[in-house]
Amino acid sequence: MCGIIGYSGPLEARDILLTGLSQLEYRGYDSAGIAYFDTFSDIHVVKKIGKVANLKSICALETDTAHCGIGHTRWATHGGVSDANAHPHRAGKVTLIHNGIIENYHGLTEEFDLEDQLASQTDSEVAAWVLDRFYEGSPLDAIRHLLERIQGSYGFCIMFDDRPGEIYAVRSISPLVASYTHSGALIASDLTALIPYTRSYFVVPEHHIVKLTGYKISLMDLEGNAVSPEMMKVDWNMDSAMKNGFPHFMLKEIHEQPEALKQTILPRMAKGIPDFEDDRIPDSLFTRCSQIHIIACGTAMHAGMVAKALMEPVLRIPVTVSIASEFRYEDPLIDEKTLVMIISQSGETIDTLAALRLAKSCGSMTLAIVNVKGSTIARESDYVLYTHAGPEIAVASTKAYSVQLAALYMISCRMAFVREKFTRSEAKAFLTELLDAIPAMETMIRKKEEEKHLVTHLIQQNDVFFMGRGLDYAFSLEGALKLKEISYIHAEAYAAGELKHGTIALIASKVPVIAIATQEHVFAKMISNVREVKARGAFVILLTKEHAAVEEGLADIHIRIPDLDDRFTVFPIAVILQLIAYYASIGKNLDVDQPRNLAKSVTVE
Ligand code: G6P
Repeated sequence: MCGIIGYSGPLEARDILLTGLSQLEYRGYDSAGIAYFDTFSDIHVVKKIGKVANLKSICALETDTAHCGIGHTRWATHGGVSDANAHPHRAGKVTLIHNGIIENYHGLTEEFDLEDQLASQTDSEVAAWVLDRFYEGSPLDAIRHLLERIQGSYGFCIMFDDRPGEIYAVRSISPLVASYTHSGALIASDLTALIPYTRSYFVVPEHHIVKLTGYKISLMDLEGNAVSPEMMKVDWNMDSAMKNGFPHFMLKEIHEQPEALKQTILPRMAKGIPDFEDDRIPDSLFTRCSQIHIIACGTAMHAGMVAKALMEPVLRIPVTVSIASEFRYEDPLIDEKTLVMIISQSGETIDTLAALRLAKSCGSMTLAIVNVKGSTIARESDYVLYTHAGPEIAVASTKAYSVQLAALYMISCRMAFVREKFTRSEAKAFLTELLDAIPAMETMIRKKEEEKHLVTHLIQQNDVFFMGRGLDYAFSLEGALKLKEISYIHAEAYAAGELKHGTIALIASKVPVIAIATQEHVFAKMISNVREVKARGAFVILLTKEHAAVEEGLADIHIRIPDLDDRFTVFPIAVILQLIAYYASIGKNLDVDQPRNLAKSVTVE
């Protein structure tokens, strides 16, 4: 949520900032801006509503050279989308960019009598003015005073008029990573902006100050004592963050799923069954618990819904799935016998992080399933299982979802084994079937062109209904979310048996219903539900296994996936649902990778 970059070094700063902002744009794209010290060591600000491309075209007219600057791409929270609300904000001697929310900005505005000074409606500008009031030549003192007064979450990069070549940064909750490279000192809200320059980086610890100059980067605590940064290595490469010839990141990431699944599964196989020794996850974590609580947001929460439907019948212990933003304000029924699984692609989603902290405070054991190495959730949970999807850039999550599922399937299998619900040979068979899902996904990806025609009818409609039973219902939740977020078509997922308790009133002639029927034990019931909507004129897109017996004329479009064990059909089904959303977005000529109002990483409440 909001992309941040700062650079000080020998290269042309504007180029580095603008390139970095393009890489960070998936975090927010309402407006973008940069500030830099110009040839006369004066701070120069350029900012504009719209995407980074807009800013680039304005900056192309600038002729002076710059070697130190900060850049921001915004996802609006406080204050609408306007040039004035775009970052950086200037306040006296201070110029800053901010990711997060200053909760007490209103009180600070009154206390520091800022009303007449504010050029924008943002909480960030208030923080800039408060910092300026405290600034008497010592950045450290001023920042320390600011932090004593502000409440909320923040990642700040700050420049002071009288300190050319220097950038100061500090964070609480909102992420920042930094590195000193051959090209100079860099700081950013996430790794994608650093990858072109370095493999080694550190996560800025909360409430510490980073100072960047052209020749050095230093980390200190709030008293000014030097602190050694804990260096980490990136194992992503640049290619994985580029489109590689695909028209959109989303399509590229859909294609990357089979490989990502292999990366997540294969290194964790020992003697044919899942093994988490290298992840340092002890079996006692799986045997000690009497219940499982899964917490996540968005797509990650939907992966949790699939895990619940998968795990409960095998493990015979309660598995609860909570939306993180709800969980964090509940008085949850969890204790030290609860295994809390936190799922997050970014590892930075603020509600999920708060839920993790709450779970820990209740004494629960926590296991995070995270994609981004070294992210806050990964660092704070007791145990972490990294998924190996590589960077996911499209806002609509695809490969991160399927690797989260793969990780959850592996955990289920190991748990069932160590809790003696699976024999070794059952665990082996489970894993073999999981691996069989990979070629099934490849088949659906290969056939993607055939699925383009699917959306011709959908994109003319305002509403689409998804339905399924059991695991199929869990899959359809994600299908509906995917369609909504990138095609802007209203979509809802229903447990098929529930549709007739109200929602069937909305099924009229030609209303699309995407029916998922891959679960054999409820197949006949599903088909009855399909007949019910068909009888009301629905346009039915039916998804079944290859050899499912379906009467002629029941579906307007029938898509078949390879025959797999029921528990694993989610993998090829996910591909179809992703492709439906993708082609619907293209068919409506929308921005696939950067849909309106959304952001990849939601670091505000
Ligand atoms: C945002 C993204 C979703 C994602 C959700 C949770 O809403 O747009 O794609 O599923 O956040 O993100 P996380 O990084 O915690 O998985």
